[in-house]
Amino acid sequence: MNQEKIKQLTKLLKKLNSGSITTEFKYEAKEFLTGLKPAELSLAEQELIQAGLKPDDLRRLCDAHLEMLKDGLGQNMHLPEGHMIDTLQKEHEAILSFLDKLEAVNQKIQEMNDYNNKNKEWAELKHITEHLIDAEPHHQREEQILFSEIERRGVFGPPQVMLQEHEDLRKHKHELERLGQETETFDFDDLKKRLDASAKFLIFNLRDHIFRENNILYPTALEVISEPETWQAMKERADKIGYCCFTPKK
Ligand SMILES: [Fe+2]
Ligand SMILES: [Fe+2]
Repeated sequence: MNQEKIKQLTKLLKKLNSGSITTEFKYEAKEFLTGLKPAELSLAEQELIQAGLKPDDLRRLCDAHLEMLKDGLGQNMHLPEGHMIDTLQKEHEAILSFLDKLEAVNQKIQEMNDYNNKNKEWAELKHITEHLIDAEPHHQREEQILFSEIERRGVFGPPQVMLQEHEDLRKHKHELERLGQETETFDFDDLKKRLDASAKFLIFNLRDHIFRENNILYPTALEVISEPETWQAMKERADKIGYCCFTPKK
């Protein structure tokens, strides 16, 4: 890993966070970031965490630099079917489609004036929530196998951020579940407000989380874990944890 590059990137990320970004600086930053490997980006993020940057600020930084990198990242991953990362990515596709459905159903519910159990939206909300909660084996495979293997190789910043996000996402999934189950005991306006808040939290943050895993974390993992036999052993452990009801069948 090129230490000089990481130092340069750390400086650049700090500047990005300061808010005083000129068009010229953006151009310069893009030039620099385009030639960078995902693992180098991960290590620079880690240095920022070590220097005391809060994970929330790091997330803002991620947004800024991902915006610049959108065209270049994560495009060269040609993985064999059944590779642990290939399965995780396919599960991401399914999760993203549930989030689209959640967005649509929440919009419809927000237009309702009172609760009526005949409205099909409630069953739909329940169905979507069940699937989102059933993504737990996906997160377990990431946390127990993928993150820990990356951390063992010295990259612990990004997995730390992802782990915290899993916690936050879980809370909101379970809030959605509770709201869907207790529809008749809540004041309807209050119910709508809480549903809107949790649905929007999940829609925005889970999409963002998936984007960063696909474009930074997974490519980093593929770069730092280079031995096929380690991936094979990781897949065997992943099989033991199990899959989601929506994981595509081979
Ligand atoms: Fe994740
Ligand atoms: Fe994921």
